[in-house]
Amino acid sequence: MNYGMQFGPLWPSIRVSLLSAPKYGALVNNFSQVDSVVRDLEGLCTTDFIYAAQNGRRDSPAEQAGGEGPAPPSEPTEAPVVPSLSVSPNIKCYTFSKGDISRFSPARPDTVGILGYYLMDAASLLPVLALNVQPGHLVLDLCAAPGGKTLALLQTGCCRHLTANDISASRIKRLHQILHSYLPKTVRNNVLVSMWDGRDWEQVEKDTFDRVLVDVPCTTDRHSVVEDDNNLFTRARTKERKQLPVLQMQLLVAGILAVKPGGEVVYSTCSLSQLQNEYVVESAINVAETQFGIGVHVEDLSCFRRLFQDTFSFYAECRVGELVLPHLTANFGPMYFCKLRRTQH
Ligand SMILES: C[S@@+](CC[C@H](N)C(=O)[O-])C[C@H]1O[C@@H](n2cnc3c(N)ncnc32)[C@H](O)[C@@H]1O
Repeated sequence: MNYGMQFGPLWPSIRVSLLSAPKYGALVNNFSQVDSVVRDLEGLCTTDFIYAAQNGRRDSPAEQAGGEGPAPPSEPTEAPVVPSLSVSPNIKCYTFSKGDISRFSPARPDTVGILGYYLMDAASLLPVLALNVQPGHLVLDLCAAPGGKTLALLQTGCCRHLTANDISASRIKRLHQILHSYLPKTVRNNVLVSMWDGRDWEQVEKDTFDRVLVDVPCTTDRHSVVEDDNNLFTRARTKERKQLPVLQMQLLVAGILAVKPGGEVVYSTCSLSQLQNEYVVESAINVAETQFGIGVHVEDLSCFRRLFQDTFSFYAECRVGELVLPHLTANFGPMYFCKLRRTQH
């Protein structure tokens, strides 16, 4: 009922998509034997959607470099769509094209036992791309487990140090498993895993990080429509569900306090709910300003909508931030993300 009111005529299509099989992307593990992983993925007729978007075409870096086989006839190449888009570098994620519902097989370990790719909702990479991690950055992933986005952050090769925090011991165990399956020891040594209540991060360190990802607990709408297990919409969890926007807001404020002046924070959820998305962002900005005297600027991410429209279906009506809507031809999301910059004063 709530989403019917929020999305009007779009809701039946979103609902049927949530009830249908989700689509995945294969995040390439740059710490594995990348060339053979990429060759295998391209053999499935998939495309690195990030590369394709930035270069205005849906063919691969290998083909652009003139790979195997005869040289293609010389055609004028299309101009890059948005050459100056600032996104975290080195992240490669392969997806089947819009309308293609083929599936990836599970990743296999390479000769040294490292897995070649990680299957995830490709829309989950958008908050990581938006964070725009650059070489030498100190990065905090405040709600990190089970670790899909942590893994993506590490693929950038840019983190001078990464702290991956989560409150849940069982989920931290899964985070450790992912780090072990995908990363060599040298890279793992650069990751500090901690188990704090993220709301109290101010007591650990403040004004410290160049980038902070705040990927909060939410109603996980896609999970909630099909699974009874761990479902926040059960009657017994009504109180917890109603408290969720407060918890989300507190976590986002903690992220804002943890970042350096001038640093950037990305807030994300996998919920469609305005209450958990725009309202949380707006109230966190208000609390940061009124209670802590910290100025926060909302960065415009509408270029993401233009750039990635061949892969995702975006909602054009968010007051702040961007939202990927599930759609039968591109069944990713929901994924909401909003980028905030802490001002210098
Ligand atoms: C959406 S999940 C994070 C998913 C993760 N970023 C990823 O990409 O795999 C939200 C996480 O927040 C954690 N969490 C909930 N309350 C928290 C709190 N107060 N402090 C820190 N983490 C919390 C949950 O345990 C859960 O793992």
